[in-house]
Amino acid sequence: MSVTIVVGLQWGDEGKGKIVDLLAQSADVVVRFNGGNNAGHTVINEFGKFALHLIPAGIFNPETHCLIERGVVIHLPSLLKEMDEIESRGCSLEKLKISPFAHLVMPWHIAEDAARDKGGKIGTTLRGIGPCYKDKAGRWQAFRVGDLLLHRDEFIAKFMTIYAEKQRELTATKQDHLLPDPSATLTEFLDARQRILLYIDQTGKIIQRALANKQEILLEGAQGTLLDVDYGTYPYVTSSNTTSLAACMLSNIPPREVSRIIGVTKAYTTRVGAGPFPTYITNKEEEENLRILGNEFGATTGRPRQCGWLDLPLLEYACRINNVTEIALTKIDVLGALPEVRLCADYESESAEYPLGEGEMWYIEKQKPTFETYPGWGAIKECRFRSDLPKNALRYVQDIERLLGTPIRYISTGAERKEIITL
Ligand code: IMP
Repeated sequence: MSVTIVVGLQWGDEGKGKIVDLLAQSADVVVRFNGGNNAGHTVINEFGKFALHLIPAGIFNPETHCLIERGVVIHLPSLLKEMDEIESRGCSLEKLKISPFAHLVMPWHIAEDAARDKGGKIGTTLRGIGPCYKDKAGRWQAFRVGDLLLHRDEFIAKFMTIYAEKQRELTATKQDHLLPDPSATLTEFLDARQRILLYIDQTGKIIQRALANKQEILLEGAQGTLLDVDYGTYPYVTSSNTTSLAACMLSNIPPREVSRIIGVTKAYTTRVGAGPFPTYITNKEEEENLRILGNEFGATTGRPRQCGWLDLPLLEYACRINNVTEIALTKIDVLGALPEVRLCADYESESAEYPLGEGEMWYIEKQKPTFETYPGWGAIKECRFRSDLPKNALRYVQDIERLLGTPIRYISTGAERKEIITL
């Protein structure tokens, strides 16, 4: 038996979808434990290319139970759209199950997100994620998946009551125009409710049974460590916990059952939304070139991602917070097309004025990176063994491993499932 956790080590978009898709081939259960449809996990396999937002990337293995656990926030219309897309391309949804304790992203959450993040102060995905988690913690105005099991009239009454409260709140700030018409929205929800009832199940029992039967369980994180609401670059974070610590808590898995914690990182860094980014490439042309080479545009929003070099001090922090046992390094093939590659191994010594404070997230915006430069290494998409890698690429990989003190177990050399070096 083993429990494996896959988490992002940066600001999301590290390529977790590909790694989960790969590992799910031998997993009995895959659990998505946090976030909502702000995430976009790209998977390319024998069924085609998918951008998954809510459905666990294990869905392509018909033997695997795919669970959406209680830490996830679900926008029902988006989930249904995703389910339709997957089914229409020949995959079964039979083993998809949703926890009744997961929360629902309601139309007013999306309106509140738009009202709050006007001007992109945080640069949210505008999917209503923050307002939904706020209501979850607030308790009075929250909807859980289990509420869909209420009698239809009871559901309608609760919906209309909260709609009216939210409308009053939004009217007070002259933002009520952002709220969609109640009857159309309600109809949409009632239709969705009808379809989703079949998938609501006691996911906790499935997990406990898998643990008891010593089966393979894979916990799939969304976003990345630096977006964690408690351990990330607050306030420029998402509203959920994204780390391995959260994976156990939100899946009701005892930490002692976990044998592998795989941290996924790109071979460079990207970020969408606002917030500090020490290794951002300030030369516009150079940054744009990397964005285009890496196709760094959001899988969820299509927004261009800001690009920078790999930041080892931040990566070291993320490895420590997650207690990472091994690393999956993705998109190293993208860097191969550059004449030279930089790597931030440390921050400048004068940044000692702004110490990282016992390895905490202090003063990130004040840090000045120092860079090592590597000559480019050319095309590596065809490499299947470490020994196939050109010497400059190998040096880059080995330096990362040495400086982080953590083995790199997977090196992804392209978007497709087969384009990977496994150690
Ligand atoms: P929210 O999660 O939509 O509230 O957005 C908060 C911050 O997290 C913004 O900077 C978003 O761009 C970022 N974010 C949320 N989800 C993802 C993701 O899956 N990948 C990358 N950034 C994300």
